[in-house]
Amino acid sequence: EKLRVAIVGATGAVGHELMKVLEHSRLNFDELLLYASPRSAGKTLKFRGQDLTVQVTPEGPIDADVVLASAGGSVSQALAHRWAEGGAVVIDNSSAFRYDPQVPLVVPEVNGEAALSHRGIIANPNCTTAIAVVAVAPIHRKYGVRRMIVSTYQATSGAGQKGMDELLTETHKVLHGQPAGHSEFAHPIPFNVIPHIDAFQDNGYTKEEMKVAWETRKILGDDSLKISCTAVRIPTLRTHSEAITLELEKPATPDEIRELLAHSPGVEVRDNVGEKLYPMPLTASGKFDVEVGRIRESLVFDGGIDLFVAGDQLLKGAALNAVQIAEYLQEKGALKVKQRA
Ligand code: A2P
Repeated sequence: EKLRVAIVGATGAVGHELMKVLEHSRLNFDELLLYASPRSAGKTLKFRGQDLTVQVTPEGPIDADVVLASAGGSVSQALAHRWAEGGAVVIDNSSAFRYDPQVPLVVPEVNGEAALSHRGIIANPNCTTAIAVVAVAPIHRKYGVRRMIVSTYQATSGAGQKGMDELLTETHKVLHGQPAGHSEFAHPIPFNVIPHIDAFQDNGYTKEEMKVAWETRKILGDDSLKISCTAVRIPTLRTHSEAITLELEKPATPDEIRELLAHSPGVEVRDNVGEKLYPMPLTASGKFDVEVGRIRESLVFDGGIDLFVAGDQLLKGAALNAVQIAEYLQEKGALKVKQRA
């Protein structure tokens, strides 16, 4: 019984993190297959001391039990069903299937059991949403969130390796007296903040902002939750930060929220302003846990709460969550190994 795991998009920023997370994962598997575009075919990547060769992504079934897909929405849209029909469980990092009622959208700490009802595809949430719900779900369960206002400070890693490269090369240009250009972002990113991530919708919000609203409701299983988001790209490499205001059904004090979150999985409470301790990309990058701090009483909603979170976009916002879904399935005995010739 040899469990085989495949990564589609292995040469990308999330693919790289998937390999790092899998190296130390408790997921019990025997073989790792790596796929990317024809541009990368034949490249080798190191995994557990071995050189693995990157292959061209198959347009038909993949001979694996789990496919971790992170090669963008169009690749998943075109191929994920074929991989699933071939018998693999596809854990998809793109937005292609997140709003499909047949496809569970899963953050294991929050709604792991939803993964068990999959029909071949499980969606990994948008990075901003995954990071927020780790902190908000326990509060919602205990105190009932009625309305949620989110302002984000999102890293360039959300635009993949090319986004991070653009931050570095364009900043270098500015520091050498040249004008910064842009291609992954709507405007030059160095020394700038850009309130525009993904496409503008008819309601004036961007798709990124609507993803936070749609996906948070789906993961928390609560369509009545009112959510408004402003999503902003900032010149950092890989952690998304978010200021979150919550209106609660049952009032809570900051101490109660701190106590609750201190015992919540996936959360590190980092909240001591006297010692200048609060969530930051500098400390949250590379960490599995989402940092939560600046917990204080809302001055707008009676008994409401304001907080600040920072979570590694490439980890909890992508690769780590995907691997945790696979681990969850295996722990529940829900990962089947295919018969192979
Ligand atoms: P490649 O490196 O061969 O282009 P990122 O999000 O960091 O940009 O990474 C995107 C990942 O998706 C890369 O591994 C990239 O491979 C892969 N990819 C992009 N387009 C395709 C495609 N058409 N088929 C398969 N993999 C793709």
